[in-house]
Order: sequence, then C-alpha cells, then structure tokens
Amino acid sequence: MQAVAAAADLADVVSRYTSLRKRGSTLLGLCPFHQEKTPSFTVSVEKGLYHCFGCGEGGDVFTFLQRMDNLTFTEAVEVLAERYSVPLEREEMGSAASADRGREQRLLQVLEKAAAFYQRYLWESKGGEAARAYLAARGLGRTVCEEFLVGLAPTGWHVLSRRAGEQGFTARELEAAGLTSRSAGRVFDRFRGRLMFPLVDHRGRVVGFGGRMLGDDLPKYLNSPEGPVYDKGRLLYGLFQARRAIVEADEVIVVEGYTDVLGMVQAGVTNVVASMGTAFTGRQLALLTRFTKNVTFMFDADRAGAEAAVRSGEIARQAGLRPMVVALPPGRDPAELAVSGSPDDLRRLVAGKISLLRYEINGRLGSTDLTGSEGRVRAFEAVRKLLDRAGSPQEKEEEVQFVADRLRLAPENVRFLLRTGATRHSPTEGDKGEEAAYRVKVLAPEVSLERRFLAGVLRHPGRAAELFRGMSREHFVDGLHQRVYDVLCPAADEGVPVVDAARRATLEHDEVGRLLTGLLISSEDDVHTEGLLQHDYLKLQEQHLDRVIGSLQAALTGDPGERELEGKLLRLEVLRQEVRHMLANVDEE
Ligand code: UTP
Ligand code: MN
Repeated sequence: MQAVAAAADLADVVSRYTSLRKRGSTLLGLCPFHQEKTPSFTVSVEKGLYHCFGCGEGGDVFTFLQRMDNLTFTEAVEVLAERYSVPLEREEMGSAASADRGREQRLLQVLEKAAAFYQRYLWESKGGEAARAYLAARGLGRTVCEEFLVGLAPTGWHVLSRRAGEQGFTARELEAAGLTSRSAGRVFDRFRGRLMFPLVDHRGRVVGFGGRMLGDDLPKYLNSPEGPVYDKGRLLYGLFQARRAIVEADEVIVVEGYTDVLGMVQAGVTNVVASMGTAFTGRQLALLTRFTKNVTFMFDADRAGAEAAVRSGEIARQAGLRPMVVALPPGRDPAELAVSGSPDDLRRLVAGKISLLRYEINGRLGSTDLTGSEGRVRAFEAVRKLLDRAGSPQEKEEEVQFVADRLRLAPENVRFLLRTGATRHSPTEGDKGEEAAYRVKVLAPEVSLERRFLAGVLRHPGRAAELFRGMSREHFVDGLHQRVYDVLCPAADEGVPVVDAARRATLEHDEVGRLLTGLLISSEDDVHTEGLLQHDYLKLQEQHLDRVIGSLQAALTGDPGERELEGKLLRLEVLRQEVRHMLANVDEE
C-alpha cells in the first residue's frame, strides 16, 4: 500500500475529475464533490492531500477515489495499483482486507465461469433449442446476445453447482455468489431453465445474474441476491458495454430492462443502460455522471414506467441535471419498438425527447378533463406548481407558452396569474385548504349559478356597470361571491375595467384572490355567451326576489297596520312576474 501511495499522483488522479490550476505551492480547482462557481478545492502535491474550503471534504489519494467513485478502500488501492503499475502484495493490505479480497476474487471467478457455462449451454446444447427460438422470435440476434453474454441455465437442480464443485468451488462460495439457494436445509441451483442476463459492473466483472422465465410464468425475472460482490444500487446494466458510446454521445439513455438494452443496441443506439426495474438510485446516478451529465429516461409507456421516469428524473434534477424523457406510444417498451421498427424510426423517437418538466406537464394535462372550465382551473393549479421546477427563466417561459396553448388561455393571462401567485395558499391554511378550493365540488345550484354569472361578467366586462347597478350584495347567497361583488361593483361604478380590478385582487393571497383566479380562467370558456349572462342575471334577480318575498310573507301577521308592507309585497310580486317573463324570452345563445 505504501508503494501504491508513493506511485499514485494525487494531482493526476484529481485532474480526471476537475481541472486544476497552480496557485502558489498548491493547486486550485472547482470542487468535484459539490457544485460551486468559484474554486475552493485545493491540492497539496507535496503533502499528497486535498481539501475543499467550500464543503469540507478532505483526505488523501485513497479517500479521494473512495468518495469520488464509491470504492472501498481496498478497491481504491487496487485501482491505483493497476493504474500506476504497482504489483500488489497481499500482505501489504492487512490480513483481514487481504482475506476479504481473496474471497471476493473467488466469487468473481465462479460467477464468470458460470456466465461462460450458461452461454455455452444456450448456444451449443440441445436443451438450448427452445431458448434460441425464443430469442429469435423476439428479434434478438446472436451478435447482440453474445456482446451481453446472454446464456441459459439448464433445468436440472444441481447442474451448475455440481460442475462448480468439480472445479474446486465450495458450497459456501456458491451460496455467497448467489448461484445456489437453500430451502429446508436443501441446497440447489438458484437459476434453472431461465434465460440468463449476466450483470456486469462498470469495471467489466460479472457480479450477478438476472434470469428470465422463457414463458409467461412468474416471477418473470429472478435476480441474484445482493452479496459481497453484488451491490444492486450501484449497478447499471450495460454500462460497461456502453461506456465509450456514452462519452462519445455525451448522453446516456436509461431504460428499464435487460431486453430494452439489447434491442436498442441491436438497432444501433448504443449509449444505453438499464436501471433494472423501476427504481433508479442516487448512487446509480453518481456512477453515470462520471461519464455524462446528460441523462435521458426512456421507460416503458405504462403507469409504472411513467412514475419511475418522474421519480428517477427528480433524483437527477436534485443533482443539478436537466433530465430528458423519451415518451413512448402507450403500452410500448423500448425493446419491442427497437426490434419492430427501423433503426431510423428508433433514432427519430429518441431525438424527439422532451424535458422532464414538459413530460410532467403533459402528464398532468393529459389526466385532467380540459373541456370544462373547472377542469382547466384544476389543470392550471396542478401545472403551476410544476412550473416552479423550471431550471431557468427561459425554460419557464417556454412552458408557460405551452401551457397557455394547451389550456386555450392567453399567455399574458397565464403569465399574469403565475406572477401574482394568487392561488398560492397562505401558510396558515395548509395544503388541504388549497386542494379543497379546487377539488371538483358539487356546488349547490344557486352557488354555481352565481359563479357562472361572475365569470360571465368578466367575459363581457362592458356590461358590468349596467348589470351591477341593478344588484346588491344580497343578490348573492355565497359569502365569498358577495366579497367578489364588493370588489367588482365599485370598480365598475367608477369606470375601472372589472378585469383589471379582478387581476389586482388576485394579488391578495386570500380566498377572494383565489376565486378570482379561477373565475378569470373560466371566463375564457366559450359557454359564456352574452345571452347566458343575461339569463343568469335575471335568474339571480328572480331568486333574490323569491327570498325577499318569502321573508316578507313570513313577517305578515294580518294586522291592519301592515298596509304598507302589503303594498310593497305586491310591487315585488309584479316585478317577479316581469323577471319571469323576461327569463322565458331570453335567448341564451
Ligand atoms: P419489465 O417487466 O419491463 O421486463 O421489467 P423487460 O425487461 O421489459 O423484459 P421483457 O422485455 O418482458 O422480457 C424491467 C426490468 O425490471 C426488472 C428487470 O431488471 C427487468 O429487466 N425486473 C422486472 C425484475 O428484476 N424482476 C421482475 O420480476 C420484473
Ligand atoms: Mn419492459
């Protein structure tokens, strides 16, 4: 180890991750451990130590590699020994480490031999016929299968373990390598009759397997358990084969499954790795970003795939990346698309990638019914929160334009609503309040009528003054609508355009502001004809008269001194008849 430490050049090692400049007796650069704009990462060549004044990271050449590449100490020593051509003597590594290391080597050996055995069995045995036909039927050729060391496990219970035993591997080693299982004291081959996809780590070592059922039986895939050499969260299927293509393209395409990788590679898209199922981890990302910062997710077009894309994308976003997504036609997966279409089609599909943000927005808009104003208001609310995730003002601007188009809103309107933050809830209300405000509620008929009327007024602002003149806040039964009236009526009275007054009120982060946001949006709906506004106005008048007349009648006691009241009732009744007559004749179109 001392020999390695002496031979390893810290500055050389570090400069593969960040560029260093000389500054006095030390070297200075941007810290590779955290995001920074001004350099605070220093390397002392003389002392063989590094330190970052920004994040506090520090250590020697071994800790640097351990931290940077997620290596164990032993691995770091080994990598450096290889790089600087220092022969490693076991004793130098300490007896425990060296024992570990020896054991690990044995596991890697048996795994590699197993992969070779499965591979031979697939291509050369009679028992492999069905599997070969299966691969052919799925359109996966021998070349790509060989590149990924695809094999087949025989159906017997002890074929592999017997053979490994003959070669001197112990039962304990086979179990630690994940090649055997144990049940009720009996030990047998873990993988039987399955198509075998060796899991190769980024250094090119077989560390485990994924075994696929040839038919539709479950579980579809059986994977190696984690163990001394297989660390699931740090493995990306295909990374070893793809590493050059990734650097060259400066982009990696992350798919879900083994067969997706094979299909894509066969179709000529080679910068592909699989997350192996739906969970993409921060550690997998850390491994990837050593090769490129441009990560594109291409997950199955099903619910699980869509959720995984968003979740994985969020991990990438948290790491300061701007992830992209290739959206596939519903129900399809990359494997199938890659082998069924032409390579050009596949390339076009990949080139049509969109930002994660756009993908999320599409998802939200797609799952909301946008025909009614209620749906559009909800969609807007859902999307508003997403827009905050934009990585830059330009991106936000682009998405605002997109949302405006999709919701059929004027972009100024959307931008205005965004700026006001009108629907952002005040801290005291909590999430529930906001949700509740926009959940599709079954509104009482008179409440929904009032709401439609107010939206209609915003749609036809020229009629506001005249309509409000014939009304009072008592025309509205809903307290919130009364407050909206209190805002709009005086404005109309003073000749201030009601839409301006409404927008100004959305600046108040209160209930009225939130309601007005919704009203402004729904006012753009084409249902709001002038005829409908007239109808709603008359209807509100009628209902108001119903209430006033009802309460006056309830107050009548039959006293002779009630003449005046009776006269008033009569006048109101006449008025109500007139309103009803007008209502019957209004043309709502
Ligand atoms: P999929 O179910 O999408 O399988 O799982 P696939 O890769 O498309 O396989 P084919 O095309 O149907 O043959 C995606 C990935 O999730 C992991 C595997 O890594 C798989 O490739 N997985 C899936 C499992 O580990 N276990 C399972 O039971 C299923
Ligand atoms: Mn799939």
